[in-house]
Amino acid sequence: MSFVVTIDGPAAAGKSTTARAVASRLEFLYVDTGALYRAAALKLQASGVALDDPRAIEECLAATRLDLSGSPEHAHVWLDGADVAGEIRTPAVSEMSSRLAAMPAVRRRLQEIQRALRDRGPLVAEGRDLGTVVFPDAEVKIFLDADVETRARRRARELEGRGIAAPLDQVQDELARRDERDRGRSDSPLRPAPGATMIDGSGRDAEHVVDEVLQVVRVHPGFPGARAGRVAHPGRASGGSGAGPGPGRAPGPGPASTTSD
Ligand code: DC
Repeated sequence: MSFVVTIDGPAAAGKSTTARAVASRLEFLYVDTGALYRAAALKLQASGVALDDPRAIEECLAATRLDLSGSPEHAHVWLDGADVAGEIRTPAVSEMSSRLAAMPAVRRRLQEIQRALRDRGPLVAEGRDLGTVVFPDAEVKIFLDADVETRARRRARELEGRGIAAPLDQVQDELARRDERDRGRSDSPLRPAPGATMIDGSGRDAEHVVDEVLQVVRVHPGFPGARAGRVAHPGRASGGSGAGPGPGRAPGPGPASTTSD
């Protein structure tokens, strides 16, 4: 079983930036599980399936191929063979993915895809339920939080950087709504896993948070060492869900760029 680092926490807490940088420094695979929920939302949006029809949603997703690949710096998100990484970060997809994520059948399907990624090598996986449900036996579990103002500022900056107008109060409302849904759902709610290291990123530099996570990883007795990921061969997700090439390795140590989460 490959060494797994999970990073869970609410939206825009800095999980993606942290997880990418940690994966890059350790040369582990980077697994953005939110991207799978977002790609599934994109598919349903394009198919015109109603969100109040769980059976149609299940059928649609059963016929959908989803996969992740690439390096932490250039992550690919495969939906039926097409890389949709550039299309899944809109507010509409955020909202729809959060609603989809409350549906048990959707979670089962996506959790299965996530677990299969462990066969590809040591990984850093970020999301909401990685330490609690997807990889409850992960070697290192992190819960990264930040106050809602810090998170809203981060998300607004990121949206603006992509040319999407984002008034701060609107972004904050949207985050608060998604938080409530993610924390309040009965299936795999957002919460710290037992034994998780709690990190508050409010007002802190991303670099310091990354260093803190790296320290926790490096002292773990099972830590295989940086570059351990090189021994794994790229592959496809099992269960017939593979669509793109397997994840690649980071080209070398170095900071990851700031990204959404
Ligand atoms: O991390 P993100 O914002 O890209 O995630 C999009 C949505 O998917 C988010 O509202 C919560 C959901 N999600 C989830 O429920 N479980 C995960 N492991 C990852 C994401």
